[in-house]
Amino acid sequence: MTKTIIDLINRNMNPAPWSEGDNIPWDDPGFSERMLAEHLSQEHDLASRKSETIDQQVEWIFSRVLGSCPARLLDLGCGPGFYTARLARKDCECVGIDFSPASIRHAQEMAKAEALSCAYHHADLRDGLWGEGFDLVMLIYGQFNVFPRNRGLEILKNAYRALKPGGFLLLEIQSREQIRQGGESDPGWYSAQSGLFSETPHLVLQESFWHEEASAATIRFSAIDGETGRVSCHALSNEAYTVQELVDVLRLAEFKDVENFPSLSGKTPAGDLDLPVILARK
Ligand SMILES: C[S@@+](CC[C@H](N)C(=O)[O-])C[C@H]1O[C@@H](n2cnc3c(N)ncnc32)[C@H](O)[C@@H]1O
Repeated sequence: MTKTIIDLINRNMNPAPWSEGDNIPWDDPGFSERMLAEHLSQEHDLASRKSETIDQQVEWIFSRVLGSCPARLLDLGCGPGFYTARLARKDCECVGIDFSPASIRHAQEMAKAEALSCAYHHADLRDGLWGEGFDLVMLIYGQFNVFPRNRGLEILKNAYRALKPGGFLLLEIQSREQIRQGGESDPGWYSAQSGLFSETPHLVLQESFWHEEASAATIRFSAIDGETGRVSCHALSNEAYTVQELVDVLRLAEFKDVENFPSLSGKTPAGDLDLPVILARK
């Protein structure tokens, strides 16, 4: 949505969760190319973790979740395929779904170059068309929280259907506290010659909101073009579940044997950048 600076100033300063958009534009071709560079960067952990961390997390998934046995798995929101490629090197058969065109292209190129047993689909995971017969379905890096509660339940039910009996669902979620803190953080600006939200000189205003009653946070990004002053706005919201609420919603989707872990690398105590992990069985 393109606006002017006055629209930006006159906006509702308490936007209802999801009222200004579902997510940042991962599926926009230009944005996805720029985001791919962030996924591949070893300077930060913003889009994907750095390779060294992913190596540790994959070791934990393979040994702790899969019992060191090659398995058939589905990675929802797989990005450029960093996890699926590593698991395929351990003889897993992997399917990845993502709606970022650049990420899926990168994942397919990597799999082809190494003849890995990975199939990637450029699709919106909300369509629920994932196939079935998986030993593991995973949705990591806090992405479960970006869906509103009713959609989250639908995703869990679809995951249940996609699994073999006894198969595992692995969710790496953002804790309620992490989401609340994010929603309460101060607004900030940055300028860039080129960046995620534009390839020409621009300013970005980031504003966060915590909605106590809805138990959700919204983050707004407003990018102002350096030459024209035109503003493009994006927003994402995160649903903040308590641990008990997550257990309840997993049970509603018929999952059992719910286990909690501090992080995807199995490290205790978890580091600042770690997110809690939930494992549940069909
Ligand atoms: C933070 S990135 C994590 C990527 C990957 N899991 C990783 O950790 O390297 C989130 C990914 O979820 C994808 N995504 C978000 N919503 C999606 C949707 N509705 N359908 C498909 N992919 C989605 C984005 O395109 C992005 O690649």
